[in-house]
Amino acid sequence: MPGPNPFRPGFGVSPRVLAGRDELVEEFDTALDEGPGSPLRSVLVSGARGMGKTVILNELEEVARGRGWLVVRLPETGDLLEELAATLLPRLLAEHDSERAVHRRVTGGGVAGLGSVTTTAKERYPVRESAGTLLERLLDVLAAHGTGVLFTLDELQAVDRESVAGFASLYQHLVRDERDVALAAAGLPVGVDQLLQHRGTTFLRRAERIQLAALTTRQVVEATRLTIEGADGSVSEPGLTALAEVVHGYPYLLQLAGYRAWREAAGAMITPDHARATVPVVSERMGRLIHDPALRDVPEAQRAYLAAMAQDDGPSSTGEVAARLGLTAQHANVFRTRLIQRELIVPAGHGSVDFGLPYLREHLRRQPD
Ligand SMILES: Nc1ncnc2c1ncn2[C@@H]1O[C@H](COP(=O)(O)OP(=O)(O)O)[C@@H](O)[C@H]1O
Ligand SMILES: [Mg+2]
Repeated sequence: MPGPNPFRPGFGVSPRVLAGRDELVEEFDTALDEGPGSPLRSVLVSGARGMGKTVILNELEEVARGRGWLVVRLPETGDLLEELAATLLPRLLAEHDSERAVHRRVTGGGVAGLGSVTTTAKERYPVRESAGTLLERLLDVLAAHGTGVLFTLDELQAVDRESVAGFASLYQHLVRDERDVALAAAGLPVGVDQLLQHRGTTFLRRAERIQLAALTTRQVVEATRLTIEGADGSVSEPGLTALAEVVHGYPYLLQLAGYRAWREAAGAMITPDHARATVPVVSERMGRLIHDPALRDVPEAQRAYLAAMAQDDGPSSTGEVAARLGLTAQHANVFRTRLIQRELIVPAGHGSVDFGLPYLREHLRRQPD
């Protein structure tokens, strides 16, 4: 008898079996090994919703912890430097500074009541040590053990620019001083691009930019097989092939299609019929959770371009799309470029484009005119 459903069709939840991505994880592991100055110690991951950005950050955090590094998850809201100075760093110093001197100095009390005591201390002593000073001290403690600090920052596109700039400047100093620090940030492609235009964040442009690619069919098949068999379920080879066709290399869909197919099979071996039966739900969920949010701030003219493309069953000729819209090729090209930047469409050979997200065509066709 198979166990409970092993697939996890949610966001921010790590899968039972990670498909692909091993190269990136290994390279990051090597970078921690190589010491300060290794370029892959600062990575900036971008990709559409459901491509596995948060999962990658979790994996990199695991790698760092496995090496005895401390992980500091930076909050998506609020002032990063303020959060570091007031809460995150004092807490870590209290745990890791063996002399406990800092702990007393910063909090004036026991570990248990840290939150409230810190607040009191803040009110009583308005002059407080900066995030930079506290971090230096933490890094000194860790240097004695040959480890360092990994910062992770998710939903980078949503974080306040000034706040990112402040943190970027602090991080840059530490890198220059060859301290053992690493940074892994993730966000939506367009938002990250916009953020990097900002003067104070120039430094982040030097981070290794990783655009998460779709998984290959083989990666989807392997991970799906291992997930099913690891939970004492079974699946036929054609069943796996049919599932991979539904998934289109999209990590979120691997979980969603797998989850639904497992349910369809109700304890029996998963077959192509079970796989194909997932399509309506997969398409509807994808529309609601991925396409709708992705289309929300797309200007009207670019939407019209997408709608014109959706008339085709496969890749669209850019000339024909322009004609449908009554635009000159040049004018249409502007929209095409913007949509490519948004990763909503992709070039598909000479003079043609195709949708960059699975089931986007179907989603657009469902929209009322
Ligand atoms: N490499 C992967 N292999 C298998 N499943 C994955 C992989 N990456 C992400 N997932 C799954 O996809 C879903 C979305 O992942 P998540 O990291 O939240 O995406 P994002 O942060 O890009 O929106 C989750 O259910 C997660 O388990
Ligand atoms: Mg995420």
